[in-house]
Amino acid sequence: MRTLLSVFLFLFYFTYPSSQTSRELIFNTNSTKTSSNSTRFMTFIALVDPLCKPSPFFSHHHWYSSLLTSSSSTTSFIHIYNTLIHGFSASLTPYQAIHINSSHGVLSLFPDSIFHLHTTRSPSFLGLNNLKLKLQNSSGSNVIIGFMDTGIWPEHPSFADDGLEPIPAHWRGKCETGYGFNQSNCNKKLIGARFFSGGYTAFFGHLDHLASEFRSPRDHDGHGTHVSSIAAGAPVTGSSFYGFAGGLAEGMAPNARIAVYKVCWVSGCLLSDICAAFEKAILDGVNIISISLGSSRLPFHLDLLSIVSLRAFSGGVFVSSSAGNEGPSWASITNAPPWITTVGAGTIDRDFPAKLLLGNGISITGISITLTRESKLTRGFHRLYFGGEISSSKFSFSRQLVKGNIVLCLTTGHMPRMLLGASLLSLGAVAMVICHGSIDPKGIISEPHVIPTITVGILEAKLIEDYILSSYSPVANISSQGTVEKHAKPAPVVASFSSRGPNSAVPGILKPDVIAPSVNILGAWTDAIGPSSVALDNRRSQFNIMSGTSMACPHVSGVAAIIKSVHPDWGPSEIKSALMTTSITHKLYYYRNVSLWSSSLILDESTGKAANPFDFGAGHIHPERALDPGLVFDLGYQDYIDFLCQLNYTKNEIHIISGKHANCSNIGEGQLNYPAIVVAAEKVGRKGVNFYRRLKNVNEVGSRKYKAKVVGLTGFYKIGVIPKKLKFSKIDEKLSFKIAIRKEKGVPKRNSLWVGALIWHEIGGKHRVRCPIVIFSGQG
Ligand SMILES: *[C@@H]1O[C@H](CO)[C@@H](O)[C@H](O)[C@H]1NC(C)=O
Ligand SMILES: *[C@@H]1O[C@H](CO)[C@@H](O)[C@H](O)[C@H]1NC(C)=O
Ligand SMILES: *[C@@H]1O[C@H](CO)[C@@H](O)[C@H](O)[C@H]1NC(C)=O
Ligand SMILES: *[C@@H]1O[C@H](CO)[C@@H](O)[C@H](O)[C@H]1NC(C)=O
Ligand SMILES: *[C@@H]1O[C@H](CO)[C@@H](O)[C@H](O)[C@H]1NC(C)=O
Ligand SMILES: *[C@@H]1O[C@H](CO)[C@@H](O)[C@H](O)[C@H]1NC(C)=O
Ligand SMILES: *[C@@H]1O[C@H](CO)[C@@H](O)[C@H](O)[C@H]1NC(C)=O
Ligand SMILES: *[C@@H]1O[C@H](CO)[C@@H](O)[C@H](O)[C@H]1NC(C)=O
Ligand SMILES: *[C@@H]1O[C@H](CO)[C@@H](O)[C@H](O)[C@H]1NC(C)=O
Repeated sequence: MRTLLSVFLFLFYFTYPSSQTSRELIFNTNSTKTSSNSTRFMTFIALVDPLCKPSPFFSHHHWYSSLLTSSSSTTSFIHIYNTLIHGFSASLTPYQAIHINSSHGVLSLFPDSIFHLHTTRSPSFLGLNNLKLKLQNSSGSNVIIGFMDTGIWPEHPSFADDGLEPIPAHWRGKCETGYGFNQSNCNKKLIGARFFSGGYTAFFGHLDHLASEFRSPRDHDGHGTHVSSIAAGAPVTGSSFYGFAGGLAEGMAPNARIAVYKVCWVSGCLLSDICAAFEKAILDGVNIISISLGSSRLPFHLDLLSIVSLRAFSGGVFVSSSAGNEGPSWASITNAPPWITTVGAGTIDRDFPAKLLLGNGISITGISITLTRESKLTRGFHRLYFGGEISSSKFSFSRQLVKGNIVLCLTTGHMPRMLLGASLLSLGAVAMVICHGSIDPKGIISEPHVIPTITVGILEAKLIEDYILSSYSPVANISSQGTVEKHAKPAPVVASFSSRGPNSAVPGILKPDVIAPSVNILGAWTDAIGPSSVALDNRRSQFNIMSGTSMACPHVSGVAAIIKSVHPDWGPSEIKSALMTTSITHKLYYYRNVSLWSSSLILDESTGKAANPFDFGAGHIHPERALDPGLVFDLGYQDYIDFLCQLNYTKNEIHIISGKHANCSNIGEGQLNYPAIVVAAEKVGRKGVNFYRRLKNVNEVGSRKYKAKVVGLTGFYKIGVIPKKLKFSKIDEKLSFKIAIRKEKGVPKRNSLWVGALIWHEIGGKHRVRCPIVIFSGQG
């Protein structure tokens, strides 16, 4: 039963809602116990084979009803699924569950599980400003992005529809009415909005959880509003978070349409509701699904989110998802299936420097978005108090000790930092100095605390702690330098919290796929709650600054919308390949206001050293290049079926995953046409291994002749590419090639990582198609 409980949601939040102590934990740890209680109901999702409906039943609904009523107590359906998957969800007693699980035609029974959730300057950082000049008016306007999140604040100027063309003809969705929300809240930007709460109320047994929020698509939390604006927000001039990150706030695809599927409530998001939202989104006609929450590391036949996303893929829908915030631990990645684009977290080059001048004359630099330059705090010294190390929501301070003081707190893990700030404010502290520990060792994440706060790195925190503990009367003076943009700091850097590879579910599939901006990102905010999400935060701000892989995912969703708009005939695998093969692995610098990519590799915040593909996947997205990749690694539905066969899933398990009786063709291990190669050193062995890949030409002009070049991997391994040249003569032509990996000399040490890439250079042309190659041994 353990595996059934480990599905979890990823909104990795750096802000925490006041009602929750541990937003990122995802499971109901006690449901195994309750399953032994014969009177206790639990929600299950039954997956059936629709072709197995016994003929006496007129409809599937009729059949499902008989499955429920033939078991003792009366129960009603929560959701009926009939688009991507077939079956239903319902609250069942253990007896009913056993009965249904063993009924003819029922493929599988999944316990419902709860998931928890895991920007003005980022568009120009990505080179999108130049891009817009070229694409001019309406790119993205025919593309609809569906967000599975906490809803939306529809009156926000980021969702205004000025100048937008009529709603795309393929849209079939609607704007549902609920508390504080009706049809008039939708427009040509926010074209649809639905909410799903059946699974949630069944899981928690009562409705109290909904009393504190809107039972409608309206966003009480802010997260959904934030991510929607990152992907597709309309331009809003003069936006900022209390003067920080000021300027033009605009989504990646400002003309793309937004469809909202609210599945997340105060205590999390239910799998049964998410599946229902996926079905509606596909029927409604969305082109892209953006889910900033995470699934599990379960085998695919036990992971319904993987299953519905494969079905969405087969319907031509691009699904992007956050990688999770469990970094920097090895193999912490979730959302592992190759048919999802999994996005890790990078920084941008904007900074909010703040200074702490200690009484002993030492000056410490940190980061702050809550300390204003005019603040009275900056005039004069205040007493410093050491609040100690805090790792959970259980903290208590004495008012006498913190009142009027600046309090230093060393936190570990994902503890509720917003509540910590609120607690200090309520006890009369004047400011907080916080260190996020190993999830942010360099102190790069700035949060919208309700108390003036400076974030510092681990080394800086140690200096301050030493000073406080060694001084009779420790004091400090704090000040902010506002916002510094462009070459403020080297970027991108892989954020320490970003979940890392290798992919424990499928080691041969590189994850994350790419990284995108996700640290200190400005986005739209709800009017229902203050930016720190704590109850005593009376501030209301149109914009908020947040961090997490939750923010990375909508950047990719927005770029995918632009690609889809420019190349309407491309499917999800072409879009994903374009994003991966054109991404960059080097830092950015500015020369005469033009951003250029330097020769030094992207760094990893957690080590301070060069990052590798288990940190950043193929690299950081580069939207302009992704629009014109030259060649793509194409993948169809059958390729994924063959891939599942090769992973030794049984016929029955593949039936559960794909919904079809599949025919396997043996493609051999590692031969999925993925735009990356990952192999264990043990597999290379003495004889070596061969990988076969296929490229499709999507380039109408230029030489279309490509030459292979292998970079990196020097020393132990030798990489051969056959043929060394590819010559395409027409659009959509596909050519195959072989990559032979041979061990050259010596015995690879355990815990090593060899990183390189195969790059196809267009001869006399600008296209470069990069495919990372990673060989790893043990723990890397
Ligand atoms: C699980 O059960 C224990 C005791 O049976 C209880 O203390 C705990 O709060 C429960 N946890 C959840 C998440 O319900
Ligand atoms: C079973 O669940 C019911 C209702 O939740 C509860 O009253 C009862 O004490 C439980 N029994 C056991 C053995 O846990
Ligand atoms: C359903 O039955 C299968 C075996 O037939 C078992 O492995 C699985 O755990 C059962 N599911 C539930 C939710 O009881
Ligand atoms: C810009 O708009 C015009 C007229 O609406 C249209 O013909 C043209 O294709 C558009 N350009 C782009 C790049 O979408
Ligand atoms: C929708 O709500 C607004 C207020 O939010 C109200 O003015 C309007 O009449 C409502 N429209 C309908 C159709 O109910
Ligand atoms: C506090 O520090 C700032 C700059 O770091 C300085 O301008 C200011 O004068 C200081 N205030 C006092 C009272 O020392
Ligand atoms: C760079 O841009 C700024 C403002 O955008 C402008 O004032 C400055 O002259 C530019 N510098 C160069 C070298 O183009
Ligand atoms: C699948 O099974 C075959 C035969 O037992 C084995 O050689 C192969 O390594 C297995 N593949 C995986 C991915 O487990
Ligand atoms: C699998 O192969 C059999 C026999 O060749 C064929 O009848 C069946 O339609 C195939 N199924 C699929 C899903 O392609």
